[in-house]
Amino acid sequence: MALRTLARYLTEEQRDKGVITTDLKFLIEIVSRACQSISVAIGKGGLAGVLGEAGSDNVQGEAQKKLDVLSNDILLDANEWGGHLAAMASEEMDLPHLVPHRFPKGEYLLTFDPLDGSSNIDVNVSIGTIFSVLKCPEGADLSTPEAAEAAFLQPGTAQVAAGYAVYGPTTTLILTVGDGVAVFTLDRELGIFILTQEKVQIPADTKEFAINMANQRFWEAPVQRYVGEMQAGKEGPLGKDYNMRWVGSMVADVHRIMTRGGIFMYPLDSKTKDQGGKLRLMYEANPMAFLVEQAGGAATTGRQRILDIQPDKLHQRVPVILGSRNEVERVTAYHGI
Ligand code: AHG
Ligand code: MN
Ligand code: MN
Repeated sequence: MALRTLARYLTEEQRDKGVITTDLKFLIEIVSRACQSISVAIGKGGLAGVLGEAGSDNVQGEAQKKLDVLSNDILLDANEWGGHLAAMASEEMDLPHLVPHRFPKGEYLLTFDPLDGSSNIDVNVSIGTIFSVLKCPEGADLSTPEAAEAAFLQPGTAQVAAGYAVYGPTTTLILTVGDGVAVFTLDRELGIFILTQEKVQIPADTKEFAINMANQRFWEAPVQRYVGEMQAGKEGPLGKDYNMRWVGSMVADVHRIMTRGGIFMYPLDSKTKDQGGKLRLMYEANPMAFLVEQAGGAATTGRQRILDIQPDKLHQRVPVILGSRNEVERVTAYHGI
């Protein structure tokens, strides 16, 4: 049987199923090509001088790595000319990036975390790119970057596509257009993404959890209780032994959960309470929550379904608990007590 490339998958979603438009198909192909370019740069590493600090800070006050800046530039350059986008927003840019006047404008908005897991770049551990696509509301004011921010402030339920690339031992692209989750693997010789898994399903139960245990003393009581019960193992109230994994790249931790189940938590804690959490809603939590729900899992803040949150700012942060449904429901129920 012929290989099913990303292009073919998207064409079938558009032509045969009517799930996506021609412009959305084009947009996703362009994003996938940008991810290939990022993958090539990462693959060269120290040979191409792409490792290390950029010497600047982003809007969140975080030190930027060279690859944060390079990946952001690759995504901007790839996406601004095609006529499919109205504007883009990124972790690495304070304000939205408008499509320059010399190019036509389209009906979609793209948000991205160009390089997720920055602390793992220089140590050669898996990192990734996360993206989310929204429709631009009709009549949105795109006259200035400041005015354009309002167009992006839509709940995660409004996403029309979301995905992430993992730059690991293999480069994979995980995608949803609201019709389940598909996994594509980059064939490095051919330079194309090939479909390697469809209809991904996250098991409802798990024995594996992911959380940064160094923050334990800052967590709220419901998370303390839940993690304590998991650590109690077979003899505890959950009646089974759990294992723990924490890569520190959300893409890699979520991808493990997509592959074999698990629960990922970056919960509210006293360190990040004032800013609402650690992870960013528009380009980390929402796309991952959309993918996880499409794979049969669940994603909440502990108190609310992530996809239902009405954002009030572009770089809003939220607590994140996602993965195997029964475990996410358990810890979410603990928050209600
Ligand atoms: P980014 O590199 O885009 O800033 O994101 C890093 C995020 C996420 O990938 C990961 O889950 C989390 O930060 C790790 O945080 P800790 O270093 O606090 O464990
Ligand atoms: Mn990130
Ligand atoms: Mn990032």
